[in-house]
Amino acid sequence: MSRELRRRGAAPSREREAGEAVDPGAADSPAAVPGAPPLPVAVCTASPSLALLKYWGKRGGRKNLPATPSLAVSLEALKTTTRVRIADRDEVIVDGKPQDPERYAPFFAEARRLLGVEIRFHAESVNTFPAAAGLASSSSGFAALALACATLAASPAGGAPARRRAAAPSPARLSALARLGSASAARALFGGFVLLPAGGRFARQLAPADHWPELRILVAVVAEEAKELSSRVAMERTKTTSPYYRPWVRSAAAELPEAVEALMRRDLERLGGAMRRSYFRMFASMLACDPPILYWAPESLALIRACERLRAEGIGAWETMDAGPQVKVLCLAHELPRVRQRLEALGVRLIESRVGGPAEAHLEVS
Ligand code: DP6
Repeated sequence: MSRELRRRGAAPSREREAGEAVDPGAADSPAAVPGAPPLPVAVCTASPSLALLKYWGKRGGRKNLPATPSLAVSLEALKTTTRVRIADRDEVIVDGKPQDPERYAPFFAEARRLLGVEIRFHAESVNTFPAAAGLASSSSGFAALALACATLAASPAGGAPARRRAAAPSPARLSALARLGSASAARALFGGFVLLPAGGRFARQLAPADHWPELRILVAVVAEEAKELSSRVAMERTKTTSPYYRPWVRSAAAELPEAVEALMRRDLERLGGAMRRSYFRMFASMLACDPPILYWAPESLALIRACERLRAEGIGAWETMDAGPQVKVLCLAHELPRVRQRLEALGVRLIESRVGGPAEAHLEVS
């Protein structure tokens, strides 16, 4: 799979004919001038990375290194598509909203260093799901941005020396670049089941999507609006004010071997138990903050209770939550209709997903 990611990221899989692609921002770009050379646009699609074991907390320093190991699965049904072109200054627009340039500055500086280019990047990103609402949109967002920037830099217009263009960055280096934006994004470049170790600079795939074809993920969308507190701010508050932060970090490390083994054996009951310990302990550390952090909504608790009842009836429905009120439920395909029916009765919107593949990119010429 790594080789596949390398191929997709480094050597754009296809180039479109001039005029076929429509670049919404091309009108104010240098290439819109008559007679100017065609403007390449790198297009990348990535799925968010849902943590089964949670990353929550950073090691010291400014490198955005995770304090806990995280084990995750790619959500095939949700997508972020990012289009990147050369511009006069770095700029990112997500779902039509311009983003704070400071948030992206370390990422773009590292992208230029890694890719050996001087260019500035204009990125427009569109999500098929609510962004910044606890559905890991920053994981797919920064993964797509990293691969799109690499794809653009690898084109002749990127301006990198030919030698540098031929030697595309490895999946590990791209994952480390994505991590600077959001640590969960280090995982989202890869498909299937992915591990980002504690203190890890990059993630690696443990198993491809077809490792567990029966696995399904139901995403229960409780609230569509963006959360009030970003995970970055909430993590920092947990680290600096929660008396449970250190015990959380210790317990997260201890949980990893059991969860990896359960995943490799496709044992949903064991994996589900580890998942629950992970998310409940993560939230325990947040509840003990000053002031406390509570992302749950009444519907979240109703969904957790519904999963408990399903399990009591012998149906394997194992839930997890992130920095938002949404609840994600893992189950097996043959039990999906019953799980679906029970959760639907609570009046929430459900998105059904399989395990997704890696981020993909190609180059278009406008
Ligand atoms: C609860 O990756 O969004 O979803 O690195 O500060 O951008 P930053 O945080 P981010 O945090 C994700 C937290 C989580 C758990 C997880 O995905 O592992």
